[in-house]
Amino acid sequence: MRIYLDHNATTPVRTEVADAMLRVLRGVPGNPSSVHAEGAAARAEVERARERVAALLGVTGAEVVFTAGATEANNTALCAIAAGRPDGRRHVVVSAVEHPSVDAALDELARRGHPVTRVPVDRSGRVAPDAVEAALRDDTALVSLIWANNETGVIQPVEAVAELAHARGAWLHSDATQAVGKHPIRPGALPVDLSSLSAHKLGGPKGVGCLVVRAGVPFAPLLHGGPQERRRRGGTENVAGVVGLGVACELAQRELPERVAAAGRLRDRLWDGVAAKVPGARRNGDPAHVLSNTLNVTFPGTQGELLLQALDLEGVAASAGAACASGSIEPSHVLVAMGFEPAEARATLRFSVGHGNDESQIDRVLTLLPDLVARARAAGAP
Ligand SMILES: Cc1ncc(COP(=O)(O)O)c(C=O)c1O
Repeated sequence: MRIYLDHNATTPVRTEVADAMLRVLRGVPGNPSSVHAEGAAARAEVERARERVAALLGVTGAEVVFTAGATEANNTALCAIAAGRPDGRRHVVVSAVEHPSVDAALDELARRGHPVTRVPVDRSGRVAPDAVEAALRDDTALVSLIWANNETGVIQPVEAVAELAHARGAWLHSDATQAVGKHPIRPGALPVDLSSLSAHKLGGPKGVGCLVVRAGVPFAPLLHGGPQERRRRGGTENVAGVVGLGVACELAQRELPERVAAAGRLRDRLWDGVAAKVPGARRNGDPAHVLSNTLNVTFPGTQGELLLQALDLEGVAASAGAACASGSIEPSHVLVAMGFEPAEARATLRFSVGHGNDESQIDRVLTLLPDLVARARAAGAP
């Protein structure tokens, strides 16, 4: 049996989600835009899912725009909505620890002539609200701040930054992809204008997510096409995917307190064991503001990619930084932004627990790690 400790890369689809999707794939053939009974049945599925997503986030269904995942949601927030502010504001402020889907969208905005300011983080991975305040200008259109980082799990002061942004007339976008379903967040209860999420990070399918757009924020579509999603996102809805997202959100709402507690127990067991058994191991990220499922550890003197391969051969899946950066020898930009030397960043692994993990799996990893780290150290750092 393999041990999967990479839930921040993606999560296994929950059985309840797969069952609901299969029911729709087999029994709901209509196009939600069609007016006949088959169309109406598909429309009802989409709208029920929308209400489930909205309930988890504390927003109204009308604020939920389904997308093909968080990358599309982030691109819509930045390259369409922020770029098209009716008052002509063009400056964008962003943290130094965003996901590549935000960073690359900002690179595109910069190419189109938008001024972009990147705000640094401290050694613990957090942005100081003061530093964001100092970066705000009279022409700031939007501040984008990741809610919880995918590599370190560090949770940012989203509410404080949103208030500062609003005080200067800027909108706040948060990439909430890692926080939703793992941490009790309610974007609807905060002054957050735009938030992104993705189903596959909370037990749903890949390729579907949404952008939540607060009522009153002038919308500009990224994908131009038919009138779907109230003319906010062209293209026939991914009905089964959207239904899967809805069920994943409903499960999250029901299970969240226990989910957070269970993940925290496993994560702490793993860290306590590593601290006791692996000399020199260092935990990264602010432990007071971190997702309960995420452990980011540096094993000085090792090459993280080799350690990862050794774990994989022993049946353990973990990650060295962001999944989309794996295979690249570039050190994680998140850890570099936190002040890590490249060699330290390359000696760092991320373990992220979730549904399906238990104590015996953590204990098995703890029996393997000391020896694998010693061997990786003998092989030498890069
Ligand atoms: C913080 C964050 N934002 C965005 C994404 C992209 O999500 P998707 O795979 O749905 O495009 C991910 C996942 O890779 C992520 O962790």
